[in-house]
Order: sequence, then C-alpha cells, then structure tokens
Amino acid sequence: MNFQILGTGSYAPEHIVTNDDLSKMVDTSDEWIAERTGIRQRHISVNETTHDMAYQAAMRALDDTGVKPEELDMILCATISSDLASPNVAIMVQKMIGATCPAMDISAACSGFVYTLDVAAGYFARGKAKKMLVLGAERLSKMLDWEDRATCVIFADGAGAVVLGEGESYLSSKLTAKGDDDVIKIPYYVGLSPFFTIPGEKPCINMKGREVFKFAVNAMYNDVQEVLEQSGLTQKDVSYVIPHQANLRIIDAVARRMDIAPEKFYHNIERFGNTSSASIPIALDELNKAGKLKAGDYIVLSAFGGGLTTGACVVRWTK
Ligand code: ACO
Repeated sequence: MNFQILGTGSYAPEHIVTNDDLSKMVDTSDEWIAERTGIRQRHISVNETTHDMAYQAAMRALDDTGVKPEELDMILCATISSDLASPNVAIMVQKMIGATCPAMDISAACSGFVYTLDVAAGYFARGKAKKMLVLGAERLSKMLDWEDRATCVIFADGAGAVVLGEGESYLSSKLTAKGDDDVIKIPYYVGLSPFFTIPGEKPCINMKGREVFKFAVNAMYNDVQEVLEQSGLTQKDVSYVIPHQANLRIIDAVARRMDIAPEKFYHNIERFGNTSSASIPIALDELNKAGKLKAGDYIVLSAFGGGLTTGACVVRWTK
C-alpha cells in the first residue's frame, strides 16, 4: 500500500515583481533574465509568512478533495524557509486549518517536495496513515541578498499542497544526496551565543549557477530514466514531466535529451520564478486545475537543489 493524490492546491502572494522592477534595483535587464532563466515575473510576499502561504495552499487542496482537516493523520511540509524555528510550518498549518494530527517539516532544499512524498509513502506503507497533507512552502525572498543580481532575479515565494489517500499510485522513486556546501549554501543567522567562535556569514543564498546547471541536467536525465525503468514504463508512456522550476534552459536541455515530447515538460517558471520546494506542487496544481490530467496518466516529478540533492518519482494520476 502507498498513496494516491486526492487533490491539489497552491498559493502565491499577490505582489508581483517583474524583471523590469528588478532592473531598477540591480544591474540587470528583462532581456538577460528572460533569456538566461525563462523568468519574466515572480510573486514576492509583502505581509505573509511561509505558514500563511502554506495555509492557503492547504485549504485549496482540502477544498479540491472534500477531505476534512480532522481526517488527516499527518501533515508534512517541505521547506527551508520557515519563519519560525518552532513551531514549524506544518504545525502552524495544523493549527490554522483546525487539524489535530502530528505535523513536521522536512528540509531538502529544492528537492524537498519529492523527498517529502517519499517519507509520506512510508507512513502509508506501514499502515500509519489513511489521509495526509503534504506541502512545499517557501518564502525565499527573506533569504536573498537583494544586491546580488546572480540570485535575487531567480528565487521567489509560494506554496503548493497535495492531499494523499490510500492507493497504489506512487510507482517508483529515487532520492540522492551528494554532500557539497560549496555549490549552493544558505547559512543560518549565526546566533547570539557569546561562546561561539565561528564568524557569521550572510544568511543568504550563495550559488555557483553554472555548476548547479551542469549537475542538474545530468541528474534529472538520469533520475527520470531510472524511475521510469523501476516502474516498468518507457519514456513514451509519460503524460507529463513536472520538473523543478529552476531554469527554463535546464528543462529544455533535459527535454532535448529524452524521447518525451517537449510540450510534456510542464513549466510555469515564466510566472513564478524558482520557489524551491513549492515549485513542483504549484505546477501540479496548475495542471490539475486546468483539467489537463486524466485518470491513468503517468506523471514524473523530478527535482534537484541544495545539498546537492535530487529526487524523482512516478505517480499515476487517479482523480
Ligand atoms: N543580470 C545581468 N547579468 C548577470 C546577472 C543578471 N541578473 N547575473 C549574472 N550576470 C552576469 C555574470 O556576472 C556574468 O558576467 P561576466 O561574464 O562578465 O562574468 C554573466 O552574466 C554570466 O554569468 P553566469 O553565472 O555564468 O550565467 P549563466 O548563464 O550560468 O546563468 C544562472 C546564471 C541563471 C544562475 C544559471 O547558471 C542557472 O540557472 N543555474 C542553475 C541554478 C539553479 O537551478 N539553482 C537551483 C537550486 S537552488 C536551491 O536549492 C535553493
């Protein structure tokens, strides 16, 4: 026993920041950002915390299913940007929606949502859950150096959610972690301890973009191949690949190497930027709400990010 996806939801802050807006803040241009990343605009929070956004996505996912908060056996949230160290995002959501189940956050950067689905599958496999809420929620805007044009044009805020029920739709998965804090690093605020001697670093996203890019294309290609093989499927069976929305050129490069039609690689990075662990559930919700998914479709999720981590899985759509 594992799970099926009963419904989806997503949320992004109302405030939109365009590439032209950013070009007034740092030395960049709409042309550079659009050509190098595919991003044209992103949603940035002005008055919402990560758990506020997660709550909105959760309510929309519950609405999509008719599942009541009190039916949930567990809430998991993938995030690296909780506004509180404790209670975590999942627990804040538990209170806000009126659920009573245990809740916890999982940190695996942009691969977080795929990692979290795999953890959720374990609860179903052990018979510990009949209904779960799984979220990806990020307020990355608080972790950006808004004077660093290499990162502030890329990352953004948002949340996505799925409600899971018992089923057999999680067909295969692969998670990897390649310990490396050189390519992507996000230091925490160093804290106030008078005893600690390591000097603080800026608590902002540091990234060697080109290295991530090369890593991402190879990793996504290999991961998608492997999860399809594990499921006994071929590339021709795939209805949609939902890649982590990090860079349109990464998505295009992976698509070119695969025998899957390019239009099956869903992207919305143009409108959302990179929302880390929220990017895949937001994209999944868009596909679902647009009525583009039909029962029996095979959907491949594939992510990479800080760690360096990667995660991919195949899910059969049943709704
Ligand atoms: N506007 C204008 N010029 C810029 C900007 C900008 N916003 N940013 C960088 N440049 C300049 C650089 O200074 C450099 O100039 P130089 O040639 O004079 O030195 C030039 O553009 C090229 O810079 P690169 O960094 O080599 O550009 P690249 O084509 O690699 O694109 C990018 C950079 C968009 C970051 C790309 O490498 C990328 O998307 N990498 C993947 C990032 C990613 O996927 N991260 C996800 C994981 S993050 C996580 O897990 C939290």
